[in-house]
Amino acid sequence: MGKILKWIGIVLGAIIGLIVVALVVVFVVSGSRMNKTYDIAVESVSVPTGAESTAQGEHLAVTRGCPDCHGENLAGQVFLEDPALGRIVATNLTAGTGGVGGSYSNEDWVRALRHGVNPTGKPLLFMPSQEFYYLTDNDLGALIAYMKSIPPVDNETPTNSVAVVARVMWLAGVFDLLPAELIDHEGPRPQAPAVGVTAEYGEYLAVGCVGCHGADLSGGPVPGAPPDWPPAANLTPAGHLANWSEDEFLSALRTGVKPNGEEFDETMPFAAVGQMTDDELKAVWLYLQSLPAKETTTK
Ligand code: HEC
Ligand code: HEC
Repeated sequence: MGKILKWIGIVLGAIIGLIVVALVVVFVVSGSRMNKTYDIAVESVSVPTGAESTAQGEHLAVTRGCPDCHGENLAGQVFLEDPALGRIVATNLTAGTGGVGGSYSNEDWVRALRHGVNPTGKPLLFMPSQEFYYLTDNDLGALIAYMKSIPPVDNETPTNSVAVVARVMWLAGVFDLLPAELIDHEGPRPQAPAVGVTAEYGEYLAVGCVGCHGADLSGGPVPGAPPDWPPAANLTPAGHLANWSEDEFLSALRTGVKPNGEEFDETMPFAAVGQMTDDELKAVWLYLQSLPAKETTTK
């Protein structure tokens, strides 16, 4: 009896020891990636002035979803809070107290938006810079012009903390925590398509759909989303869109109601996407139509 208990004790002790070692490894490995300093030669982007540019920038901010994460007035908000996952806070972007807007130079804006790195060289968490990376100089300049024009709002936000479960999931590749790791910081700038009602320009606009609908837009579970989120829809011609017309596509995104009368789930940012102009939505439609039909991803 004593011997058995002794062995149980040894085995339990070994298991606990292994768990402790595993946790230490998780925190050390994840911490070293999160604390890495990126020294980036930031491209200079000319930031225009004038009402037309700020309006273009505001249109971009809305359709690319900045207020969805940073809050209606862009003054920051807790974006995710969960005991197992931790707390992720989208920064106050205004020039008010607690905001970065007052101290940010044009270069800081480009570094954050295009490279996912803050002015101290640290990688930003969860901020989808791997999508904003594709914004042309013209669009990025207008976006920065708008960001510099927004009214200051005082809002001191709490700090980020990434809890153990989120770190394990990130290291296991369930979702990407650091967009800076996904970006080729030194490569040539991607080619910018001409603005127009074309599939090529639609692809440029649809970069913002990929984070949820998947790289090939065939839908499936949204990476890193809470379990109560529905899977993203398959937007290739193998999904429902095969039976939609262009008009129905535009009207669904404008009204939030699909051709079959069903409403979009609130996790689908139709209100932001629906602010695209007719030409922009038509370009996205053309692009989606041009995709190869792919079975819905289920994983
Ligand atoms: C999916 C949510 C999400 C979207 C969409 C998003 N952001 Fe962010 N953003 C974040 C989070 C979270 C942080 C904080 C990252 C951190 O503290 O490490 C952040 C940080 C930033 C920062 C860096 C601030 C600093 O700490 O130095 C800037 C600048 C920024 N966002 C601008 C924008 C703009 C402009 C847009 C729209 C074009 C946008 N963001 C869209 C989530 C988002
Ligand atoms: C934050 C995640 C997210 C982003 C970003 C996103 N979607 Fe979605 N989308 C979803 C989810 C989840 C669904 C499934 C729920 C639903 O149909 O309401 C969905 C459904 C849809 C549907 C309905 C299709 C069907 O079969 O019923 C369309 C159309 C759509 N998205 C288009 C887009 C387009 C175009 C973009 C980019 C401009 C985009 N979405 C960006 C999450 C997202």
